[in-house]
Amino acid sequence: MGSRIEIEAPAKVNLTLDVKGKRADGYHELETVMHQIDLVDRISIGVTDDAGTRIKLTSNSGDIPGDESNLAWRAAQIFLDRNHLRAGVEIFIEKNIPVGAGLAGGSTDAAAVIQGLNALLGCRFEKKALLEMAAFIGSDVPFCLLGGTAVARGRGEILEPLYMKGPLFMVLVKPDFGISTAEVYQGLDLNNVAEWPDTTAFLKAWEKYDIINLSKNLANVLESVSISKHPEIKTIKEMLINEGAINALMSGSGPSVFGIFETVERAQNAAEIMKNNYREVFLVSSYERRGDCY
Ligand code: C5P
Repeated sequence: MGSRIEIEAPAKVNLTLDVKGKRADGYHELETVMHQIDLVDRISIGVTDDAGTRIKLTSNSGDIPGDESNLAWRAAQIFLDRNHLRAGVEIFIEKNIPVGAGLAGGSTDAAAVIQGLNALLGCRFEKKALLEMAAFIGSDVPFCLLGGTAVARGRGEILEPLYMKGPLFMVLVKPDFGISTAEVYQGLDLNNVAEWPDTTAFLKAWEKYDIINLSKNLANVLESVSISKHPEIKTIKEMLINEGAINALMSGSGPSVFGIFETVERAQNAAEIMKNNYREVFLVSSYERRGDCY
């Protein structure tokens, strides 16, 4: 041992997010289309023989913790414990994905740690075992490990990969506040949802790479909960549509909002204008996973 690896950890957006009901375990039964974008954290992972060191996590960002409250730290611990490995793990996170944003920033870092440790150890663990570990860490982590685009069901761990015929061009805006996912789910009243997604119609448009119709079918049942607390989310949606987006939607539990554009040029123009009002504006496109073992 004593080797190091660098891995990209992409953010995700939810193109649809439907909640089918509340479960006995307190979680919600989901049906959501998750889509990775090319806004990435860069994770450097090293393994040493020094078991005394255990897990050390550092970052260029002051926004994330360096202890067990960080999902990436927990991923390393669970990986070592479940596989009965005695080793030290050093993680450095170059943070580019906004924190507390509905973009799975913490989950994707955790997935990258699992992927990286497996690669450093000669890809010796099965995909099924890694996905199971990922689900234990958090609801979004299995998707982040799978990558690309997928329909996620159950708590988020039942995944159906989707083939992508072409990229989506988006402008992503993160307002200057964060949102607690748990609070948004708590505030969800399924008898009082403003707009339900039609996942079947979305998937039909997705299969045809029909950008207009897939954009028209963007919907997220958590959006009205977050908008009721933070009306600025609605303002951002309207601004993106005014600047030429076919449609715009909040991602996950928010507060990030993305707009889909027909061309990269239109997205570029809109991004420039949004930058006059918001500090965190990103011109992004679909992220295609490069093949590696996990
Ligand atoms: O699994 P994770 O810890 O990322 O979830 C964060 C919170 O989001 C949970 O504590 C729960 O309140 C909510 N959640 C949910 N149903 C899901 C996923 C998350 O209620 N399927």
